[in-house]
Amino acid sequence: MSRGRGARVPARPPAPGSCGCCCGRPAAGGCLLLLLVAWGATAAVSAGALVALAALPPFDYWEATGDGDGPAERSEWSVGPCTFQFWEPCNNSKLLFYHFSSDDPYNPDILDIMNPEPQNFDTNLTTHIIVHGYVGHVNFSATANIYKAFLRRGGSNVLAVDWGRLATAPCYPAAVFNTLQAGRCTGEFLVALARRVPQLSLARVHAVGFSLGAHVAAFASNAVHEATGARLGRITGLDPALPLFATLKKTWKLDASDADFVDVLHTNVGVFGKIEAVGHADFYFNGGTVQPACSDHQNVPLCSHLLANIYFAESIESDIGFWGTHCPSYYQYVVGWCSVLDSGSERVIVGEHCNSSTRGVYFVETGSTPPYALG
Ligand SMILES: *[C@@H]1O[C@H](CO)[C@@H](O)[C@H](O)[C@H]1NC(C)=O
Ligand SMILES: *[C@@H]1O[C@H](CO)[C@@H](O)[C@H](O)[C@H]1NC(C)=O
Ligand SMILES: *[C@@H]1O[C@H](CO)[C@@H](O)[C@H](O)[C@H]1NC(C)=O
Ligand SMILES: *[C@@H]1O[C@H](CO)[C@@H](O)[C@H](O)[C@H]1NC(C)=O
Repeated sequence: MSRGRGARVPARPPAPGSCGCCCGRPAAGGCLLLLLVAWGATAAVSAGALVALAALPPFDYWEATGDGDGPAERSEWSVGPCTFQFWEPCNNSKLLFYHFSSDDPYNPDILDIMNPEPQNFDTNLTTHIIVHGYVGHVNFSATANIYKAFLRRGGSNVLAVDWGRLATAPCYPAAVFNTLQAGRCTGEFLVALARRVPQLSLARVHAVGFSLGAHVAAFASNAVHEATGARLGRITGLDPALPLFATLKKTWKLDASDADFVDVLHTNVGVFGKIEAVGHADFYFNGGTVQPACSDHQNVPLCSHLLANIYFAESIESDIGFWGTHCPSYYQYVVGWCSVLDSGSERVIVGEHCNSSTRGVYFVETGSTPPYALG
């Protein structure tokens, strides 16, 4: 999620300066307590919507009946101001796909979902597709920071998904629900693009999804897999959303089977972001929950959640880079068993330039003002 009334802030973060836990080197007790309180509140927020989800047929049913036309039952309905879509035909009324060019970054082309005709598309390059979260849109700062960094660096095709009409406030449960529709349509778009530009290799498509967008990217890759037998080459999850996804089945959330390489940046663990390691490589920043740059911010969890985008955008162009130190698990890190200064541990580059053979859990230290990378 990105912002808005639906964004609950369950736990009071440590006051600026007190930083007893989760900033810098984490300490055991306080941090675990914060996580537990946050979990409790998030679970309460989620419970109602989970009841609604549980009333639906299981995901497998929809998969089994989804032969292109989908089930005969209605697949769009409204509850108050919130629209739920499920197996609706994909068209440009709810989803927009943008293609950016360095020549004119503020004037991207909008590509038709079913018949994309991109100009200046170089199939020899990696294609990045950026997916926002709750209440996001194409101009949302998190999306914009990332596409601008890719365009400045050059050497790739840059696309963005705008599924904002399915992710409006205060409809967080609807947005969660609509990740499937948004993901499936993103997959159909990529398949149509590969048909239109036959040299495009889906294995060279890299989806970058923030918060709920990380789950959209996973659904997109699964839809591509169903249509072509291939998955996307890479998914980068930027603090994948926790609320509602905490308990759902594996098919309903980002995991390591969703792309050839799945790397995940965690910046607000247990509040807006997921706790557990879900990718091939998982990177926990500054204790994972409270980012140092956010300690004076009026909404510390949200600020920390959003920093996943800022760190990733910076990693695209940074000369020194973010580096992660290996740790057996996040829980060992939280209780202080992994020393931040353990120079014997393996260090790897984090973010855009992460090596796709990286595996495991890493923790990452950053500065508290931009540029955040410490080298
Ligand atoms: C897009 O699909 C919706 C149904 O989801 C339909 O009502 C609308 O007319 C379609 N729009 C276009 C431009 O095809
Ligand atoms: C892509 O690479 C191939 C082989 O290296 C080359 O022949 C082709 O011209 C390149 N295409 C573009 C658009 O640069
Ligand atoms: C994004 O910003 C551009 C340029 O400021 C504007 O033309 C466009 O309408 C905006 N799009 C959305 C979806 O807000
Ligand atoms: C990634 O890591 C592997 C194994 O450590 C190494 O062989 C390879 O050269 C690395 N790739 C890059 C691009 O650094």
